[in-house]
Amino acid sequence: MTRKLFIKSYGCQMNAYDSTRMADVMAPHGYALTDTPEGADMVVLNTCHIREKAAEKVYSELGRLRTLKSDKAAQGERMVIAVAGCVAQAEGEEIMRRVDFVDIVLGPQVYHRLPEMVAKLGRGGKVLDTEFPAIDKFDSLPKPSAAQGPTAFLTVQEGCDKFCTFCVVPYTRGAEYSRPVAQIEVEARQLVDLGVREITLLGQNVNAYHGAGSDGTATGLGGLIRKLAQIDGLKRLRYMTSHPRDMDDDLIAAHADEEKLMPFLHLPVQSGSDAVLDAMNRGHTADDYRRLVARIQTARPDIALSSDFIVGYPGESDSDFEATLALVRDIGFAQSFSFKYSPRPGTPAASARKQVAEEVMAERLERLQAILNEQTSGFARSLLGKSFDVLFERPGRYAGQLIGRSPHLQPVHVFAPEHAIGDIVPVRVTEAMPRSVTAELVMARPNGGQLAMVAS
Ligand code: SAH
Ligand code: SF4
Ligand code: F3S
Repeated sequence: MTRKLFIKSYGCQMNAYDSTRMADVMAPHGYALTDTPEGADMVVLNTCHIREKAAEKVYSELGRLRTLKSDKAAQGERMVIAVAGCVAQAEGEEIMRRVDFVDIVLGPQVYHRLPEMVAKLGRGGKVLDTEFPAIDKFDSLPKPSAAQGPTAFLTVQEGCDKFCTFCVVPYTRGAEYSRPVAQIEVEARQLVDLGVREITLLGQNVNAYHGAGSDGTATGLGGLIRKLAQIDGLKRLRYMTSHPRDMDDDLIAAHADEEKLMPFLHLPVQSGSDAVLDAMNRGHTADDYRRLVARIQTARPDIALSSDFIVGYPGESDSDFEATLALVRDIGFAQSFSFKYSPRPGTPAASARKQVAEEVMAERLERLQAILNEQTSGFARSLLGKSFDVLFERPGRYAGQLIGRSPHLQPVHVFAPEHAIGDIVPVRVTEAMPRSVTAELVMARPNGGQLAMVAS
C-alpha cells in the first residue's frame, strides 16, 4: 500500500536537499510524496533555527497539524508527525515536552535512520534522535529516486567550524565535514541520468570543501568542480554558500577557465565595518573583501555577486552602519539577503551587553534594503536587449510561458513550448522587472523556412 508523505522545508538550500533525501529514504518503504498535509500518513517539518522568526514558524505550523492529525485519528488512521532539521537539533527535548502529538524528533545528521524510527513507533511510542553519529549518513543514503526538474542541489560539505558569534549553525549542524570526491561524482551522475542539467553544490561553507580524492589526498572545491565538469550531460555548475576566508586561488581560477561554472557567486560579507566584522569573528576586514572581489572580477569580469547582511549586530554604531552602506555602494550586488540581528540562544553575541534597539535596526534595514533593491533592479535593467542562454526549469505563471535561469541566476520569463523544459536556449531580454526579466527566444531560420529554436 502506498502511503502519503508530506515534507515541508524551511531555511537554507541544505534543508531543501535533506528533504529530497528524506523522501528518497522513505520511498522504498512505500511512501510517496504528496503536496498537501491534508490526509498525509506522515508529515515531516524540516526546520530552521537561524533567526527567531524562522524557529517560531515551526510551532505555528504544528498548531495547524494538530487538527489534521485528529481528523485522521477520527477515521481510525494515524498521521505520524516528525520534526527534523535545525530546530529539532537545538530544541528537540523542548519540542517533545511542549507538543504532545509530535511522534519523532530527529536531527540533520540522522535522517537516514527515519524508516527505523517509524518502525520503532509501534503504537503510540515516540522517538527522539539528535545524535551526531560517527558513521557517515551519506554512506547510508539510497540513490536519488526522482529529479524535481532539470536543476538539483547536491550537498558536498556540511557543518561549520567558524563559530561566528551570532550563528547557530556550528551547534545545529556540527563540525565541518567534506564528502569524498568519488561519492559526490556518483550522485552527480545519478542526477544527470534522471535528467538534471544543472547542479548546485551545497555546504554551510561550501568553499571550505576538502574531500578525499581518488588517491586519498584532499581536493578543494575548485578541483571538485573541474572533476564534475567532465560529466557529459551536466551543463552547468554552481555552488553556495561561500565564506570570504575560503576563496582560494584554484577556485578563483576555476571561474576563469571552467566553462560550466556559472558566473554567479554568493559571498556573504555581513557588515562593512571592521570593528563589527572583528566582533562577529568573521576573520577578514572590509578591504580584504574588496580586494577579494577585485581578484574574482579579474578572473571572471561578468560575475554577478550576491551577499547576506546583518544590521544591528550588538554594538553596531551609526558609523559602523555607514561603513556597510559604503561597501555596498563600492561593490554593487546583483542579489542580496539582509536581516535584522536576531539573538540566538547559546551564541556569544546573544549575551553581549550593547544590543541595538529594534527601531534602530528597522530603520537601518530599510535604508540598506533601499540601496540593495536599487542595485538588484539596476542589474535587471542592465540586461535589457542582451542575449544569453537560459536553462528552462518549469512552466511560468501565464499559459505558454516558461521560467528559467540565466547564467547569472536571474529568473527569466519566456514564451516557449513546454517541451523546452530542460533545454538551454538563447534568449534576448525585452523587459526588466525588479527581480527578474522577460525575454524572447532568439530564433534562426535554418532552411530559410519555418522558425526553429536554436539548439544549444
Ligand atoms: N555560512 C554562511 C551563512 C549561513 S547562515 C556564511 O558564513 O556566510 C545564512 C545567513 O543568515 C547569514 O549569512 C547571516 O546573514 C544570517 N544570519 C545568521 N545568523 C543570524 C542571526 N543570529 N541574526 C540575523 N541573521 C543571521
Ligand atoms: Fe554561521 Fe559563520 Fe559558520 Fe556561516 S561561517 S555557518 S555564519 S558560523
Ligand atoms: Fe537554517 Fe539550519 Fe540551514 S539553521 S539556514 S536550516 S543550516
